Amino acid sequence: MRRLPPAALALALTTATLACGGREEIADAAHAGSAVVFTEAAWQPTREADIPADSMGASITRGLYLLRFTPESLPAYATSNLRCTSCHQDDGLDPKAAPLTGSHARFPKYMSRSGTVIALADRVNYCFTRSLAGNAIPVGSREMTDILAYLAFISKDVPIGTRIAGHDGLISMPDTLVGDIARGEALYTAKTCVTCHGVDGAGNGPIPALWGAKSYSVGASMARLERAASFIMHNMPQTAPGSLTPQEAFDLSAYINSHPRPDSPGKENDWPMGGAPADVPYATKGHAAFNPPPLLPRANPRGAAVPNPPVIGRGAQ
Ligand code: HEC
Ligand code: HEC
Repeated sequence: MRRLPPAALALALTTATLACGGREEIADAAHAGSAVVFTEAAWQPTREADIPADSMGASITRGLYLLRFTPESLPAYATSNLRCTSCHQDDGLDPKAAPLTGSHARFPKYMSRSGTVIALADRVNYCFTRSLAGNAIPVGSREMTDILAYLAFISKDVPIGTRIAGHDGLISMPDTLVGDIARGEALYTAKTCVTCHGVDGAGNGPIPALWGAKSYSVGASMARLERAASFIMHNMPQTAPGSLTPQEAFDLSAYINSHPRPDSPGKENDWPMGGAPADVPYATKGHAAFNPPPLLPRANPRGAAVPNPPVIGRGAQ
């Protein structure tokens, strides 16, 4: 081996260090445009403009459009006048409106409501059957795959199992507040809800129903006093979100949730281990119904339920 003079050796070492740093930069650049290192505070979801112009991008785009135009795209399944983005606003990216960002990294997940670990496709179908009061879509369908492609896309770079602060469900409200139906009725007019959602709560065109045959079912999270109050306080009225007090939001929630809405077949089997939140408006094991609304029968009760994952191996009965 040729002997280097000491000065040349020092130079070679410096170059090696630089080259090493350089290589790391090249490795990062290979993930052009993506934040490879997940920093919770700095994380931003990818948006429609970031969808790649390839086959994967076509599936992601279809998934996004299914969220935006659910009844138009899937009339046999989405039978209410709600779309996914009626609640998951800004294409599921709005942190105040039950964000879907990072959802792909949070599943499979234990759901105390079903008492099972469920995959993301089943969670999507819980919203089809309960929030949209529609029918479950086939898990192996192209449409489900496209919806999952979009959810994966807006979860880009989120490590598995991460609950991102500020992107994790509806924002919790104080559980000490009580809603008053009569005050809610007055606020429904005073706070302009009536001008968009209508006197009969049936909505109008792209404006979704709040009660009646075309609204969310009694088994939806939104049928709970506190969950709907959170959505309303942070997102409505659409012309002035953030203008309601928590008490006003609870009053409006109590008023809206006192009206008839579609039933949710099988709901009595929810929370099989107990532990239903106090404001669930139907009876379950160890829980009496909280202010139950009148219920409207479902056209297709079989399609309205999401079966728990069946056992097919040695434990099968
Ligand atoms: C009536 C309002 C409403 C509609 C419409 C709705 N959802 Fe939801 N969705 C919710 C609420 C509320 C949650 C639970 C948020 C929480 O945990 O606080 C939720 C949760 C979810 C989750 C789980 C998110 C997570 O990370 O835990 C997914 C996925 C989801 N919805 C997808 C959909 C899809 C797809 C559609 C359309 C087929 C849809 N939702 C329609 C209200 C709605
Ligand atoms: C300017 C029209 C407008 C006004 C006023 C308005 N909303 Fe909405 N609301 C909407 C639209 C549109 C959506 C669906 C979200 C979207 O498409 O971005 C919605 C969604 C909702 C939802 C969730 C979806 C559903 O149908 O269950 C609730 C609950 C709701 N509004 C309650 C209220 C309440 C309570 C008020 C009054 C404080 C109110 N809204 C005022 C337009 C309006």
